[in-house]
Amino acid sequence: MKWTEYVVEYFIISIYLCSYYKQVNSLDNGLLRQPPMGWLTWQRFRCVTDCDTYPDTCISEKLIRTQAQLLVQGGYLAAGYEYIIIDDCWLNMTRSVDGLLQPDNKRFPSGIRALSDYVHSLGLKFGIYEDYGTETCAGYPGILGHLSVDAETFASWKVDYLKLDGCNADIKDFDTGYPAMEDALNATGVPIAYSCSWPAYQEFDKMKPNYSAIAHSCNLWRNWADIDDSWESVYSIIQWFGDNQDRLSPFHGPGHWNDPDMLVIGNYGLSPGQSRAQMALWSIMAAPLILSVDLRTINDWARDILLNKNLIAINQDPLGAMGRRILKLDGNVEVWSKPLQDDRTAFVALFPQPYGTPIRISIKLSDLGLGRYQDYDLFELFHGDFLGKYHYTDAYNFTINPSGDVHAFYAESAEPKTKFHKKLRL
Ligand code: GLA
Repeated sequence: MKWTEYVVEYFIISIYLCSYYKQVNSLDNGLLRQPPMGWLTWQRFRCVTDCDTYPDTCISEKLIRTQAQLLVQGGYLAAGYEYIIIDDCWLNMTRSVDGLLQPDNKRFPSGIRALSDYVHSLGLKFGIYEDYGTETCAGYPGILGHLSVDAETFASWKVDYLKLDGCNADIKDFDTGYPAMEDALNATGVPIAYSCSWPAYQEFDKMKPNYSAIAHSCNLWRNWADIDDSWESVYSIIQWFGDNQDRLSPFHGPGHWNDPDMLVIGNYGLSPGQSRAQMALWSIMAAPLILSVDLRTINDWARDILLNKNLIAINQDPLGAMGRRILKLDGNVEVWSKPLQDDRTAFVALFPQPYGTPIRISIKLSDLGLGRYQDYDLFELFHGDFLGKYHYTDAYNFTINPSGDVHAFYAESAEPKTKFHKKLRL
């Protein structure tokens, strides 16, 4: 070979090795450039497996098929909620004689591949739950010792999203175990969104999670406590994310997201105001929007909140910035803000306390971080109403109802045309 041929060969081999290294050592599935949106069984349907007593709500293919149809018919898919994910309690208590994962065949008689095909036929994507340890949190077989074969099984079932929990495992192993499953998923060649519970268990154990490694391996990750169907639970999660935003936000962005857990809107625990608050804060945080609600019985007002186009657009903004708590005011009112593409900003002011009477707030735009000399157009976010033109030295006055309600608003450069279009449609 001539020396020029050696150089060419060297470059070809280097490029091949680089791409191989990338293939097996970083999550390169190109997925979730925007926060995932979907529906998950856990919060609403938990681990109900007794289909004789609870035929309509037990974890079964019938439940998934019904909710999948309603995701489409109810307009949720059109709004962006595209994943339907089965959480814990879908498995048989033992693996097959060949060592493969298998579903409970009484509740999933057609098998997971048929269910996945059905979900895909509706235009949705299919997700499933497993656990890195010996058993899932509810005691079903975990993946430890079976990573490659289980990744192959998920790929053969055309799974699009894997939630990998961390019960019944040594959390010190997570820093190698979760990346090992990432490698196993990459090796299947099928792009599978990877949701990790890796830092959640470490945070609870007061370890400092390696968020840089986590963001390298996972598309999203649960950071903190399981959400419950109450304002107390939702507010405690909002507080935790506000208190820890400096540590979390640098690792948040297209392809890799912090996850404060499911939306519980439409269930038993939240008032309409508290439901608006969860939707607004999850949108501001660019959090995954994962519903867990019975779509057969959801109220119209809850559905309207979940389908609000402006809030969803704030959540899905391509910059992918995690909003931050920027102010704490009297009455424990807190203001959060999120920078959006094209120099626009969304804000949410939350009045969490049950003081019984609405609170009046007056904030200078400069205290919201708005400092351009030109005027801003302000809009209310839920209804899109135009609030007026403001200079950064002006004060903006608004009222928030108590007990966990919000005022959500939005600022962009004032355009003369704003005089004529008085509704915000993001
Ligand atoms: C853990 C997770 C929950 C859910 C249950 C299932 O608690 O954090 O989101 O998946 O396990 O058993």
